[in-house]
Amino acid sequence: MTEMTTVTDTAAPAPKLPTLPDAQTVTEVKHWTDRLFSFRCTRPASLRFRSGEFVMIGLMGDPDPKTGKQKPLLRAYSIASPSWDEELEFYSIKVQDGPLTSKLQHIEVGDQIILRPKPVGTLVHDALLPGKRIWFFATGTGFAPFASLLREPQTYEDYDEVIITHTCREAGELQYGHDLIEALKDDELLNDVIGDGFWKKIKYYPTTTREKSPKMGRITDLMRKGEAFEDLGVAPINPQDDRAMVCGNLAFNLEIKAMLEDYGLEEGANSKPAQYVVEKAFLD
Ligand code: A2P
Repeated sequence: MTEMTTVTDTAAPAPKLPTLPDAQTVTEVKHWTDRLFSFRCTRPASLRFRSGEFVMIGLMGDPDPKTGKQKPLLRAYSIASPSWDEELEFYSIKVQDGPLTSKLQHIEVGDQIILRPKPVGTLVHDALLPGKRIWFFATGTGFAPFASLLREPQTYEDYDEVIITHTCREAGELQYGHDLIEALKDDELLNDVIGDGFWKKIKYYPTTTREKSPKMGRITDLMRKGEAFEDLGVAPINPQDDRAMVCGNLAFNLEIKAMLEDYGLEEGANSKPAQYVVEKAFLD
């Protein structure tokens, strides 16, 4: 008894041991709206990924009523932080009856999540041929892979202009992207590697569809009308100069994919780089 008390008094607190398979610890959580949040977590030492890729993350599911056993509940999430960051960032929707996000939205700093360290994805620079201008087309949480790519030096090394369009229902849903782009101006790495004023290459085009904001409408409609090109001061998309990455809801992806094909762009892949690539945003 005495011995045990002595040990407890003098020993340093025991480190929190991972209790989940592939456990990582949450280091920051930010709630942006009642439908959106972002969080950061530790990065497994072995994890190497290309900016724009996704991994499977999640939590333990509820115990099986018969066996009492728990299984991991995992979904694909784009990594929102760039490949050089020592932590990982994710940007998520909150769905009140969604199997994962109904729980994930309640995580707090110090909690553990499951992260399978096997990155994959098509929204990578390797899947595109060289071009002059890159378009990042996002709706909702489809902004996540671009949050990574906008902080990736290669984006500015490869292109003279970087256009990011983000269409959301409400103005509050643009805040995460807006703040991230504002912070780029002071990004030490990008300023060092790319040089002073690299951020002048960026053209940010946020639009809303269900709440008033300075620019209203779906990006697809604004492009069809020519309004988006006029506002941005660029020529309509053409296969010589323009490259595109798309990440949003399914209907959006299909519509913009058809538009890009009409502009003469061809879909690329890791194994066969071309002029545009598409990925579905996580929805649950
Ligand atoms: P809308 O409000 O007109 O449906 P969601 O939150 O449902 O994923 O939608 C995110 C944004 O994507 C919304 O602003 C929505 O506009 C827009 N959107 C949905 N479908 C399309 C589409 N086919 N083309 C362009 N934008 C779309």
